[in-house]
Amino acid sequence: MKVQAQAYTFLLTTVLLLISGLRVHAVHYDHSVTTECLVEPKRAQYGGGIMVNPGFDQSLRGWTVNGKGVIEERISKEGNRFIVARNRTHPLDSFSQRIQLEKAKLYSFSAWVQLSEGTEIVSVVVRTNRSELVRGGHVIAQHGCWTLLKGGIVANFSSSAEILFESQNTEVELWVDSISLQPFTKTEWRSHQDYNIERVRKRNVRLQILHTNETALEGTTVLINQTRPGFPFGCSINHHILTSKDYQNWFASRFKYTTFTNEMKWYSTEIKQGEENYTIADAMLEFTKQHNIRVRGHNIFWDNPTQQPIWVKSLSSEELRKAAEKRLNSVVSRYKGELIAWDVVNEDLHFSFFEDKLGQNASAEYYSKAYKLDQKPIMFMNEFNAIEYSGDQAVIPEKYKKKLEEILSYPGSEGISVGIGLQGHFVSGQPNLAYMRCVLDSLATTNLPIWLTEVSVDKGPNQEDHLEDILREAYAHPAVEGIITFSGPAIAGFKDMQLVDENFHNTPVGDVVDKLLNEWKSESVQAKADSTGFVDVSLFHGDYDVTIIHPLTKSSTKLNLSVKKHAPQDIVQVHV
Ligand SMILES: *[C@@H]1O[C@H](CO)[C@@H](O)[C@H](O)[C@H]1NC(C)=O
Ligand SMILES: *[C@@H]1O[C@H](CO)[C@@H](O)[C@H](O)[C@H]1NC(C)=O
Ligand SMILES: *[C@@H]1O[C@H](CO)[C@@H](O)[C@H](O)[C@H]1NC(C)=O
Ligand SMILES: *[C@@H]1O[C@H](CO)[C@@H](O)[C@H](O)[C@H]1NC(C)=O
Ligand SMILES: *[C@@H]1O[C@H](CO)[C@@H](O)[C@H](O)[C@H]1NC(C)=O
Ligand SMILES: *[C@@H]1O[C@H](CO)[C@@H](O)[C@H](O)[C@H]1NC(C)=O
Ligand SMILES: *[C@@H]1O[C@H](CO)[C@@H](O)[C@H](O)[C@H]1NC(C)=O
Ligand SMILES: *[C@@H]1O[C@H](CO)[C@@H](O)[C@H](O)[C@H]1NC(C)=O
Repeated sequence: MKVQAQAYTFLLTTVLLLISGLRVHAVHYDHSVTTECLVEPKRAQYGGGIMVNPGFDQSLRGWTVNGKGVIEERISKEGNRFIVARNRTHPLDSFSQRIQLEKAKLYSFSAWVQLSEGTEIVSVVVRTNRSELVRGGHVIAQHGCWTLLKGGIVANFSSSAEILFESQNTEVELWVDSISLQPFTKTEWRSHQDYNIERVRKRNVRLQILHTNETALEGTTVLINQTRPGFPFGCSINHHILTSKDYQNWFASRFKYTTFTNEMKWYSTEIKQGEENYTIADAMLEFTKQHNIRVRGHNIFWDNPTQQPIWVKSLSSEELRKAAEKRLNSVVSRYKGELIAWDVVNEDLHFSFFEDKLGQNASAEYYSKAYKLDQKPIMFMNEFNAIEYSGDQAVIPEKYKKKLEEILSYPGSEGISVGIGLQGHFVSGQPNLAYMRCVLDSLATTNLPIWLTEVSVDKGPNQEDHLEDILREAYAHPAVEGIITFSGPAIAGFKDMQLVDENFHNTPVGDVVDKLLNEWKSESVQAKADSTGFVDVSLFHGDYDVTIIHPLTKSSTKLNLSVKKHAPQDIVQVHV
C-alpha cells in the first residue's frame, strides 16, 4: 500500500486510541461493496483486521508460498506494493498466512485481486488444521484493474488455520492486495443486527392533535394499535391445509404471506399433457383470500431437468416450446392480479433444461412473457445456496447479477419489476452469517428487492438457534424485503422443520418463529399529547389503527395510519 496512506492510518489509529483512553471499541461492520474494477486497490478494510502485513508495506513478511509456484512482491507504476503468485500448477498454488480462529467468532474477509491476463473466479479459502478446505467468498477477477473480493467464515472450533487463494486457471498470475480478516464476537454481530433493525424497520412518527381552530389539544389520549405488519414474514402452505381446520386456524392466526410448496408447479397442474387441473391451487388461493394472506406464485417453470412433468421429457424442442407457451399463458393468466410475486424460471443459475432445448434466451423470454400477461407480481429468480453455502460458485453474486441483467435487457422487458429470490435451505450446524451478509451486501447494489423465499434449517443440534440467527440476519439487512420459511405443522408432512407437532403444540423452532413475529411488531401504545399537541412514537413499518380520545368530551376519533419505509416523514395532524 501507499506509504503515505499507511502513515496517515497509523496516526489516526493512535489518536483514536488516545481519545478513547485505550478503551476497546466495538468495530462497526462495514457493509460497503465496490463493484467497479479500479486502477489501484483501496486500502484494507478494518486496517487489515488480524492479518499481518495486509498491504505489503513490509514486502512479503507474514506470507508464505502455498503449494508449488513462486511468490513475489511487485510495485505498480504508482508505487503501490502487492503480492503475486506465478508459475502455478495447481488451483490452490498461491500465498498463505497462518491465522488463529476462535470458536464462535465470525470473520469478515476482503481483498483486492487482479490477474495477469483473462477473467477467472478467484476464491478465498481457509485451510483448517485438519486440512479441510472451506471456501469463504468468490469474485470474478480480471486483468487490467482490481476487483474487490468479499467473503466470510465462521469458526465452529478454535484452531489455527491458513488463509489462501484459489483460481482454476494456473496459467495466469494471481495478484492480491489489501487483505483483511476482521473477527466479530457473536455479541458484536447481534448488536449490528439490532442497530440495523432499529434503523431500517422502524420509523419515528409524530402526531399532532389540534382543535378545529388549530390550537393544540393538550392531554388528548392517543391509542395506536398495529393491524398488519409492514414486513412480510410468512410461511409456506401445502394442500393439507384444505382438509385440516387446525392447520387453517394455526396458519391464519399467524401469517399474512405465503407460498404454496408444490401446488402451482407445472408437474402438479398438468400431470397428463393437455389435462390441466387447478382444483387444489385454486382452493388454496381461496383460503388465502378469505384471510387476507398474500401469495408468492411458485413457480411457472423449473429449470431442473428432473423436476418436469413426466411427459415433458419426451417432447421434441418444438413440442416443448408449444407446451411451455401454453403452460405460461395458462397459469399466469389464471392468477392474474392475485399474486405479489412469481418465481418465473426457478433455479436457472443451477440448471438449464429450457435453455438446452430452446436456446440461451429461454429464461429471459419467459420473464418477459410473464410480465406482459400480468404486471402486478414482481418476477423473481429463485436460487438455492446463494446465501447458505459459500462453496457453490454457480450462484456467486456476480453471476446472479449477470442473469438479472440478461432478463432486464431482453427486448420487450422494459419496465419489468424483477426480484432476487434466495431460497435459504440451510444444512444443520452453524450457519455462515458472515458469508450471508456479504452476499446480501453485494446483491443489494442492484437496488432490487431481495426475498428469502424458502428458509429452512435441517434437523440437528441447536436447530432453533441457527434458524433464529438466519432470520435475524435477513431481517436486519436493509435490502431484504420479505422472508418466507418452508415449514409448517407435522400433520402436513414438513420433515426438516416442523413449527408445531401433531397436536399443534409449538416445537422449539415454532417458538422461535412466534417469538420473532411478536418481536417485529409494535405493541399497542397509549400516549398523551403534550402542550403543543404532539405525540412521538417509534413504530415498526405496518398498518395501524389510531384512536384519539378527546380530553374533555371523551368522544373518540379513529384513523388509519400506514408507517412505511419510503413515505415522506410528515407530521400527521389530526383535528378533533
Ligand atoms: C516453474 O515451475 C517449474 C516446475 O515447478 C520449475 O521447473 C521452473 O523452474 C519454474 N520456473 C520459474 C521461472 O520459476
Ligand atoms: C465444524 O464444521 C465442519 C464443516 O465445516 C464440520 O465438519 C465439523 O463437524 C464442525 N465441527 C463442530 C464441532 O461442529
Ligand atoms: C487443531 O487445533 C486444535 C485446537 O488448537 C487442536 O486441539 C488440535 O489438536 C489440532 N489438530 C491438528 C490435526 O493439528
Ligand atoms: C380553540 O377552540 C378551543 C375549544 O373550543 C378553545 O378552548 C380555544 O380557546 C380556541 N382557541 C382559539 C385561539 O380560538
Ligand atoms: C389491536 O388490533 C388487534 C388486531 O386488529 C385486535 O385484535 C386488538 O383487540 C386491538 N387492540 C386494541 C387495544 O385495540
Ligand atoms: C382435479 O383434481 C382434483 C383434486 O385432486 C380431483 O378431485 C378431480 O377429480 C380432478 N379433476 C379431473 C377432471 O381430473
Ligand atoms: C438472445 O437475446 C439477445 C438480446 O437480449 C440477442 O442479442 C441474442 O441474439 C439472443 N440470442 C439467441 C441465441 O437468440
Ligand atoms: C381503516 O381501514 C379499514 C380497513 O381497510 C377500514 O375498514 C376502515 O373503515 C378504515 N377506517 C378509517 C377511519 O378510515
